[in-house]
Amino acid sequence: EKGGYEHFMLKEIFEQPKSVHDTMRGRLLVEEGVIKMAGIWDHIEKFKNANRIIIIACGTSWHAGLIGEYLIEEYARIPVEVEYASEFRYRNPIITDKDVVIAISQSGETADTMAALKLAKEKGAFIYGICNVVDSSIARITDAGSYTHAGPEIGVASTKAFTAQLTILTLIAFKLGKHNGNLGNADFMRLIAELDAIPKRIEDVLSSTHDLVQNIAKDFVGATNFLYLGRGYNYPAALEGALKLKEISYIHAEGYPAAEMKHGPIALIDENMPIVIIAPKKGHYDKIVSNVQEIKARKGKIIAVVNKGDTQVSAMADYVIEIPETAECFSPIVASVPLQLLAYYIAVYRGANVDQPRNLAKSVTVE
Ligand code: F6R
Repeated sequence: EKGGYEHFMLKEIFEQPKSVHDTMRGRLLVEEGVIKMAGIWDHIEKFKNANRIIIIACGTSWHAGLIGEYLIEEYARIPVEVEYASEFRYRNPIITDKDVVIAISQSGETADTMAALKLAKEKGAFIYGICNVVDSSIARITDAGSYTHAGPEIGVASTKAFTAQLTILTLIAFKLGKHNGNLGNADFMRLIAELDAIPKRIEDVLSSTHDLVQNIAKDFVGATNFLYLGRGYNYPAALEGALKLKEISYIHAEGYPAAEMKHGPIALIDENMPIVIIAPKKGHYDKIVSNVQEIKARKGKIIAVVNKGDTQVSAMADYVIEIPETAECFSPIVASVPLQLLAYYIAVYRGANVDQPRNLAKSVTVE
């Protein structure tokens, strides 16, 4: 059942070329230059007339939501807010029938997300679901939605469900942007061709980084803290990298937008602090170079995720993980893969139960 892998989590990390592909299949029609999503198309007026989109989720799905905000605002130019379901439901939020709510949930059973949706529904918002489990409670109370076709995710730490969520959010952003004219045809065609190649990029990353990341992990088995930094689309990817490490290795980790370092966390940096930096060429690269210089000056141990052929960040890094270059908006999908592997191997070397970490459940059905 684990297909020859030692754990479900590793199997699921390796399934990502397929799960991302399955999530696009029948929706992304590259030759025709079309994104087909009945759930969006049947309710296109709702999206067109929306004052804003509110994305509601918890945990990893909330991180996907943050990337969804960057995607939808950049390509469809619709204002987006991303909320933790547990905060949203208890703070008397302002919701109207001009709001579109997108709920993201792998299990479709998360109690806080469910309750937040009920509240939004009562106030007349249109509710769109992005769930992995077919016919789950959240899928059933939404007005429309798109399933992520990641297949069953057994490992408690979400991996392939996350990249499938990013795939759906990308499709939604491009479809809305194309429709409302904010994403021009030439850019749309270029982006969808690149999206179509993402499963292949993930495959390349898995084969080119696996052994290297496994070796890097050995050097951090005794770490007690980690920082993960990124900017733009890769800031949520940093949050997600840190969450993966916390959940399965029990090492304290924090994700931060790289530029926020100097507003506090830089005080933590010394030669014992490992810092994972996501720094692909596209996306504030020069800015991140100066963030890395500040860290280097304080002797932090730098693990850099960069594009092939990178020189500046790589020259300062203690460890370099190369990923292929993509459009900035796809970089969190590709960058997340080595971070999943890093968390996985550190946890394995610490003897932790990676598939069933202590204190965690796959579906959080109580608030
Ligand atoms: C992280 C993780 C959790 C879930 C969160 C939401 O690896 O698994 O943080 O992402 O509990 O769950 P869903 O997506 O099922 O609503």
